[in-house]
Amino acid sequence: MKILVAGGAGYIGSCCTEYLLDHGHEVVVFDALLNGHRAAVDERATFVHGNLQDAAAIDAALAAARPEGVIHFAAFIEVGESMTDPGKYFRNNVSCGLNLLEAAVRQGVRKIVFSSTAAVYGMPQTIPIPESEPTLPVNAYGESKLIFERILGWYERIHGLRYTALRYFNAAGATVRCGEDHNPESHLIPIVMQVAEGRRPQVTIYGHDYPTPDGTCIRDYIHVLDLAQAHLLALESDAVGCFNLGSGSGHSVRAVIDTVRAVTGRDLPVVEAARRAGDPPRLISDSSAARRVLGWAPRFDDLHAIVDSAWQWRQKHPHGYAR
Ligand code: UFG
Repeated sequence: MKILVAGGAGYIGSCCTEYLLDHGHEVVVFDALLNGHRAAVDERATFVHGNLQDAAAIDAALAAARPEGVIHFAAFIEVGESMTDPGKYFRNNVSCGLNLLEAAVRQGVRKIVFSSTAAVYGMPQTIPIPESEPTLPVNAYGESKLIFERILGWYERIHGLRYTALRYFNAAGATVRCGEDHNPESHLIPIVMQVAEGRRPQVTIYGHDYPTPDGTCIRDYIHVLDLAQAHLLALESDAVGCFNLGSGSGHSVRAVIDTVRAVTGRDLPVVEAARRAGDPPRLISDSSAARRVLGWAPRFDDLHAIVDSAWQWRQKHPHGYAR
């Protein structure tokens, strides 16, 4: 297949691009490089430097590439920032995404796969979380993704543009070429690794009084390559709708820190602090629908292996993608 990947220079987008190329597909990456890295884009891909806010640019890129499928990763992802500057999130994650959808319809794209999030559930009551759980986001980031999922539903109904929205839980790990390099970094695993590298003095645990066995938040960490596999299956499938993607296992913040300690063999000073606003105590995915309908079979079922892949990438790229 020929596939256009919007946001293919970001963390999950670049890993997915590499996976698609490794599986014999042709990829055009469209990215504004606002947060992504040019060096993250696989040399086998065609790179188009463009911003989805420029409707003519994405239209031209799709007209030139004529892809069968589009994967849409291009979005802002910082939950905290979305609560201080919601307009930035609705403009980029909704309005700019609409330019991509309009162009996809005009250019006759068959299928779009959309990068959604467990944040659409807000504070879920059912664990593990099925797709039937009410979607009640507690931050503007999650709301922006939910609005876009609903827009996709209308484009399917009115224009026949088939879509799959993939609701990721906590993406983690690295491929041989691509890893996580955000600036500033806010995600737990890379932050703990920065402490292991001596680039931060300590890990701060946000909240130690949650109703969980060790008092810290529980998350479902899923390897980026397993996410990438689901994107390809979704492109190949006729299934329309939203699917959770997680490992189905939960790990507390303390368990993550212990795993990084075991993988790196480094000392990791820890301090406990107040809860971070908007953090649900426990997010664990029920991904049985993705397994059943898409034929998804995640390969990394163990946090140690996920953390180990991230650590190996960091050792090869101590400054991330910066020269
Ligand atoms: N945490 C710490 N200390 C840190 C960083 C994080 O204790 O320095 C804790 C958080 O409070 C949370 C857990 O580690 O309990 C995981 O935090 P992350 O920031 O790594 O990930 P989140 O679960 O908050 O968010 C992730 C994605 C979001 C997405 C969300 C959906 O980053 O984009 O999952 O569940 F919206």
